[in-house]
Amino acid sequence: MEDQRYLTFALGKGRLAKKTMEMFGKIGITCEEMQDKDTRKLIFVNEDLKLRFFLAKGPDVPTYVEYGAADIGIVGKDTIIEEARNIYEVLDLNFGKCKMCVCGPESARELLKHHELIRVATKYPRIAKNYFYNKKHQTVEIIKLNGSIELAPIVGLSEVIVDIVETGSTLRENGLSVLEEVCSLSARMVVNQVSMKMENERITKLITDLKSVILAS
Ligand code: PRP
Repeated sequence: MEDQRYLTFALGKGRLAKKTMEMFGKIGITCEEMQDKDTRKLIFVNEDLKLRFFLAKGPDVPTYVEYGAADIGIVGKDTIIEEARNIYEVLDLNFGKCKMCVCGPESARELLKHHELIRVATKYPRIAKNYFYNKKHQTVEIIKLNGSIELAPIVGLSEVIVDIVETGSTLRENGLSVLEEVCSLSARMVVNQVSMKMENERITKLITDLKSVILAS
């Protein structure tokens, strides 16, 4: 194993990284250093397996992978579509399941039917644009926000939003509903295009092992 180079993983910070390490644990990939909650370390290493892990903001994961700073990334499908990087998407990890939806007050439902020029607030302008322009053929004004998207229709910034719905409780608690579904989402594994060739054996084994865990769950 001595001549092996490190395989580097970029994990989307938060729940996604936690779930990923739980799944990796089932195929014998662990990283003790990562268990320490108080650590300020940015890179975690498993010397025996020649693996390195780092945590990044979700939207940055495809960037690290495209440039080869990470061989492999774990990130939501929403981010993969939105970032549109040159990377391979190789596996649906089957967790972090949720939906990208058009949401708003019930009163906005009619506006979607009649192709009116409405304002759409979202953290995902590419996904929103693609949905309204290419699928619905509705001209809309897209307003980019960075979080708490549900606020927009409440305070009158937009008529509807395009956002992720998981349990639906954020919508419910703010008097909003799902008006249309855009697509289903979940966590995915992405791979750098050169790494896929150079480290094919290790990466293929990783995918095969993960597939058997996913099938068994
Ligand atoms: C996401 C999403 C919704 C919420 C959906 O926000 O943007 O606001 O989760 O989850 P629910 O259907 O289970 O209520 P996140 O917590 O990532 O924060 P954000 O507002 O910064 O986007």
